[in-house]
Amino acid sequence: MRTSVRFFKEISKMLDFYSQFNPSPLSIKQFLDFGRKACEKTSFIFLRKELPVRLANIMKEIQLLPENLLRMPSVGLVQSWYEKSFEEILVYENVDTTDPKILENFCERLLKIHNRHNDVVPTMAQGVIELKQSCTLDQHTEHSIQYFLDRFYMSRISIRMLINQHTSLFGANLNGHPRHIGCIDPSCSVTAVLQDAYENARFLCDQYYLVSPDLEITEHNGSDPASPISVVYVPSHLYHMLFELFKNAMRAVVEHYGSDADSLPSIQVTVALGKEDLTIKMSDRGGGIPRSLIETLFQYMYSTAPTPSPSTDSTPLAGYGYGLPLSRLYARYFQGDLIITSAEGYGTDAIIYLKALSDEANELLPVFNKTSTKHYRASVGTHDWTEDDYSSFTCNVVYREIM
Ligand SMILES: Nc1ncnc2c1ncn2[C@@H]1O[C@H](COP(=O)(O)OP(=O)(O)O)[C@@H](O)[C@H]1O
Ligand SMILES: [Mg+2]
Repeated sequence: MRTSVRFFKEISKMLDFYSQFNPSPLSIKQFLDFGRKACEKTSFIFLRKELPVRLANIMKEIQLLPENLLRMPSVGLVQSWYEKSFEEILVYENVDTTDPKILENFCERLLKIHNRHNDVVPTMAQGVIELKQSCTLDQHTEHSIQYFLDRFYMSRISIRMLINQHTSLFGANLNGHPRHIGCIDPSCSVTAVLQDAYENARFLCDQYYLVSPDLEITEHNGSDPASPISVVYVPSHLYHMLFELFKNAMRAVVEHYGSDADSLPSIQVTVALGKEDLTIKMSDRGGGIPRSLIETLFQYMYSTAPTPSPSTDSTPLAGYGYGLPLSRLYARYFQGDLIITSAEGYGTDAIIYLKALSDEANELLPVFNKTSTKHYRASVGTHDWTEDDYSSFTCNVVYREIM
């Protein structure tokens, strides 16, 4: 018992220490240059500080969650994973960096940590469900949870990116694509990822509805009209976003026209490359979404689909309500964005913006400080606009302030 109290004090001291530092955001170009030099020792020295900093920043924020959420068993489980991983990385604080055995051991440790955190998203989601089932949430609590989940999942994306880069460059299992530098593709073909994501979404759509809309892609390369568009990017992130958007678009189209319709309008995707932005616009004719709901789509767990049953639907077409909010985080992670605009009664455009230049694609990371703390404490103020959609207005303001 005494040991665990001492241990707990020690860990909270280290949390206080590491959370004082701001995370150091890297650009895709830095990841790439660094990966090409591939010096394991330099990467190790960077990560043994940067990982505890990123972990501590978000762990301090977990502690600020509403009391009743913290008491949920799933949230406790997630918290224990973070504590364990934090502690495991601190072991390397003062070790000899020239010892190859230690470097090897560090790499293996990172893989274990990566796997330990595989189920963080569904487990945290389960925690929120447990809370919702146990009481009714006030607006402020809902707000804090949304604010937290955006920051928490963004932090997780970034930590996994760091771990993936290190383990894929220096780990024992080096069977990645020869062109890739870690998980970055220096000439990622947007069309190839689009086709891959489309095929896999179509498979699910066919399984569920027995029909699916076709795909039409148009490319406009503003800098070199004759060449296909490619970008320096993490293909798995791009795939994640496109797969989610395709599933949504397909579901909307089939539901709108009916699965017994003679034909379905195709999903049209426009890819455009300019000096600053790479834009991917996916347009469907699935009947659209009322404007008043657009903000809601980005709330975790908002879904108009029936909740999938874990036993029968291994990969459901829709229903968890995490597709859009998580995809937007992937887009924002490297300074891009994902927006939805819709013409209700007709169809929806989902637009992904990515930075065209890899040195402008900097990680966007949550920082734990007084400003962030305030968001968990402040109660919702009285209205200072007469409009109905006051709450969505404040949502935007808060987001802009924090990101
Ligand atoms: N292209 C679209 N057309 C119409 N409605 C959409 C479209 N994309 C998303 N939606 C609406 O947004 C909701 C949330 O989407 P998402 O976050 O992907 O969760 P899920 O697909 O699991 O419901 C969907 O349930 C649907 O009602
Ligand atoms: Mg979806």
